[in-house]
Amino acid sequence: MEDEVEKRVDAELNRRLSQPRLKDKDLFEVVEEVFDRRTVLGVMELRRRRCIKVLKGVVSAGKEARVYWAKGFSGEDLAVKIYLTVTAEFRKSIWRYIRGDPRYEWIGKLPRHKLMAVWARKEFSNLKRMYEAGVEVPQPCCVYQNILVMRFIGRDGVRAPLLKEAVEHGLLDTSEYEEVFWRIVDNVKKMYRGAGLVHGDLSEYNVMLWEGRTYIIDVSQAVRLDHPNAHEFLRRDLGNLVRFFGDELGVSVPTVDELIREVTEE
Ligand SMILES: Nc1ncnc2c1ncn2[C@@H]1O[C@H](COP(=O)(O)OP(=O)(O)O)[C@@H](O)[C@H]1O
Ligand SMILES: [Mg+2]
Repeated sequence: MEDEVEKRVDAELNRRLSQPRLKDKDLFEVVEEVFDRRTVLGVMELRRRRCIKVLKGVVSAGKEARVYWAKGFSGEDLAVKIYLTVTAEFRKSIWRYIRGDPRYEWIGKLPRHKLMAVWARKEFSNLKRMYEAGVEVPQPCCVYQNILVMRFIGRDGVRAPLLKEAVEHGLLDTSEYEEVFWRIVDNVKKMYRGAGLVHGDLSEYNVMLWEGRTYIIDVSQAVRLDHPNAHEFLRRDLGNLVRFFGDELGVSVPTVDELIREVTEE
């Protein structure tokens, strides 16, 4: 039965993909061999919904997801994160985060493309909760299957630097380190108290610096406070900040325990 449905979906995808408008250069300025048929159709659907006007270029090619720069119908810059593969590592980490999260217990053994869709939707809903709680995150726009659309952090297709890069390339004055540190802690606090979420993969690689703000990105794995590992993840996130700012940059920072109290207590 499932197979029959799959076959029919495939046939429909093939039919639609053979239509000329797919070769539409208006939509795909980047030629992407890495896109499967579902993804191509997904991007088309997002244009039909007037979420993406044109896909401009690759910003980042990670292990599981690629991020593209795109334009919206009002000329706004967008970042389009497309989940394309499921590595064994990814599956393992998904389980680590999902196990015990009551919102995602039903997932079970989903096929690859469904798992990626769940993951994209999870990232979208986490972004939304954080954005609404006033956390500095890219504003989420829309999500469809394995494709997540958010506001682009940067300008004209040039993304903002990651915290790690800003320090390495001397884009930050050492006198600014402490302020940046506390700004990130403040975001972690808002994430915890306002959104009821713990990031779970916070590091100098998942913070972008732009226009004086510290944008937290890559929130797919964030967990709710009632997740059994929430506290452990919070400790690790704050530990990463202490390691980077304290040990590596020599900023005088509190201990992890002090920071945990700062974030979680009134
Ligand atoms: N909203 C955004 N605007 C601009 N660039 C982004 C945005 N989101 C992600 N990026 C870029 O894409 C990279 C990968 O995104 P991320 O969400 O961290 O995925 P992953 O690390 O899982 O591949 C980031 O390091 C950053 O350079
Ligand atoms: Mg990342």
